[in-house]
Amino acid sequence: MKIQKSLFGTMPDGAAVEQFTLSNGNGVVCQLLNYGVRIASLRVPDAKGNPADVVVGFDHLDGYLQNDYISAVCGRVANRIGGAKFSLDGKTIKVSANEGENQLHGGKCGFDKKIWRAEAGQIGVEFACVSPDGEEGFPGNLNVKVIVALTDADELRLDFTAITDKPTPVNLTSHAYFNLAGRGNVLDHELMLAADFYTPVDSHLLPTGEIKSVRGTGLDFTTPKAIGSQMKKFPEIVSGYDHNFVVNGGGKSPVLAARVREPISGRIMETWTTQPGVQLYTANHFDGFAGRGGARCEKFGGFCLETQHFPDSVNHPGFPSVILRPGETYRQTCIYKFIHERL
Ligand code: GAL
Repeated sequence: MKIQKSLFGTMPDGAAVEQFTLSNGNGVVCQLLNYGVRIASLRVPDAKGNPADVVVGFDHLDGYLQNDYISAVCGRVANRIGGAKFSLDGKTIKVSANEGENQLHGGKCGFDKKIWRAEAGQIGVEFACVSPDGEEGFPGNLNVKVIVALTDADELRLDFTAITDKPTPVNLTSHAYFNLAGRGNVLDHELMLAADFYTPVDSHLLPTGEIKSVRGTGLDFTTPKAIGSQMKKFPEIVSGYDHNFVVNGGGKSPVLAARVREPISGRIMETWTTQPGVQLYTANHFDGFAGRGGARCEKFGGFCLETQHFPDSVNHPGFPSVILRPGETYRQTCIYKFIHERL
């Protein structure tokens, strides 16, 4: 595995945005930015050896400044916090609201908008940042590390850790948008989700607190199905997927949460996680903005498999807790593994 460092761009305040290019011996090439720990590019060969970029991204920094969360790490708390408040140890904590009355993906200046310290190591790049006490309303100084590694087994592996000096919620995720064809939309991609249950939401996309079976709904991907075929069949999903699934058998070591196959190229991506949930988001808000090489990023132009704790866990005592306390270490691993099917 080789790593090269270069300058990708300059932030409006003059800060340098560094780019790290990781390549393994199998033709997989990944570009990472220290602006939001973004996966800016991931070139993966297909069954015939033809490479394509399988993540949505931009050639220039401007694209990332104008389009939120694209292929970045989100935190301190990914997804929504209802009413931008919660109670912790008997105290009400108010955090910044950036989506109506709610908080989305850590607030106005979440981890996706930070310039992280970055250092290339033997297996990948180590990104670090400190989120100060009170940032976006969250208590405690939080020290966060994300190690992004590219293995010879064609896995992009993200290992997250965090420590705090006051109790605080932590829920980090990778918001990478994938498209295994490298162009067009993802409606023909065949998806398998190892999830028998999901967490229903209200009209503001806040969980109701229920955990329901996927059986008989458009959310049943327990056997592989084309994403678009389910949208057609189930009218309630016509505008796309934006749902949190409960990963079967989640635990300390990574389990298989999802497998996606693109039928024409034969590219397959598996997602492995230590987290209890995975948010499937099908780029429902993409409106034709210009992406890499000027290509239009249309609705359904990518899919995210955001491995994480359930949305708004801070307000649902029945969901697994996201509270990190001093002396504890937050740990989670997300692996995106690529397989080239023989055609
Ligand atoms: C997803 C979220 C969507 C949308 C998107 C933002 O994680 O579930 O509702 O906010 O991020 O690009």
